[in-house]
Amino acid sequence: MLSEQAKRYVRETGPQHDEIQREMAAHADEHGFPIIGPDAGGLLRSIARMRGAEQVFEFGSGFGYSAYWFLQGMPDGGEVVLTEFDEDELALAEEFFEREGLADRAYFEYGDAMETIERYDGAFDVVLIDHQKHRYADAFRAIRDQLPVGAAVVADNIMSGAVDFHDILPYFESGESLPDDENTRGIAEYLETVRADDEFHTVVLPVGSGLAISTRERA
Ligand SMILES: C[S@@+](CC[C@H](N)C(=O)[O-])C[C@H]1O[C@@H](n2cnc3c(N)ncnc32)[C@H](O)[C@@H]1O
Repeated sequence: MLSEQAKRYVRETGPQHDEIQREMAAHADEHGFPIIGPDAGGLLRSIARMRGAEQVFEFGSGFGYSAYWFLQGMPDGGEVVLTEFDEDELALAEEFFEREGLADRAYFEYGDAMETIERYDGAFDVVLIDHQKHRYADAFRAIRDQLPVGAAVVADNIMSGAVDFHDILPYFESGESLPDDENTRGIAEYLETVRADDEFHTVVLPVGSGLAISTRERA
């Protein structure tokens, strides 16, 4: 990953929190909750803006921090689907969004995101995958047919957080076996799945905890 100094430089010069995001970040700190962070969040906002995203779907929303970044980059009327199987987190997301007058641009879907997606037809402009690591590849398979050309799938924790990329690198470099850990195996399976999909172009960026961004190039 980046040196400590490089990280400080990126942080100092990158996107800063507004008041509600500061409150969200403080809440995450206090409770040890893994939000995507301001660098990755700022990138989500940029991607939403560049795509002119009108519909966004998240697998794993917590209390709405990443969804809030998305909405900042989306045009008026753009909507985000939040999914969360922790009722309290989702209720807090709704509270934050109501305070900012954003609740009518969000669907707060309580339950397993893998079941929620079955109730949606898309099409989605941007998707965030940030739930259980061993289900990332399934999430991609579940949503890929709802993504038009130009849509993007962003997956978090490709390098750190629930995994350590040092455990995955030897697998891709020289075919060594992966540790017997479902998170590590899930991230490796995800990368193999998206990289093998000819209709998508994938880049891995050392932003936040590491993002894989897969853009649909062909239908
Ligand atoms: C890393 S946190 C999400 C953080 C959020 N994207 C952000 O940056 O603000 C992952 C969340 O996904 C939820 N989660 C994990 N698996 C899920 C599933 N299958 N369905 C719904 N929520 C899930 C967890 O309860 C947790 O709150």
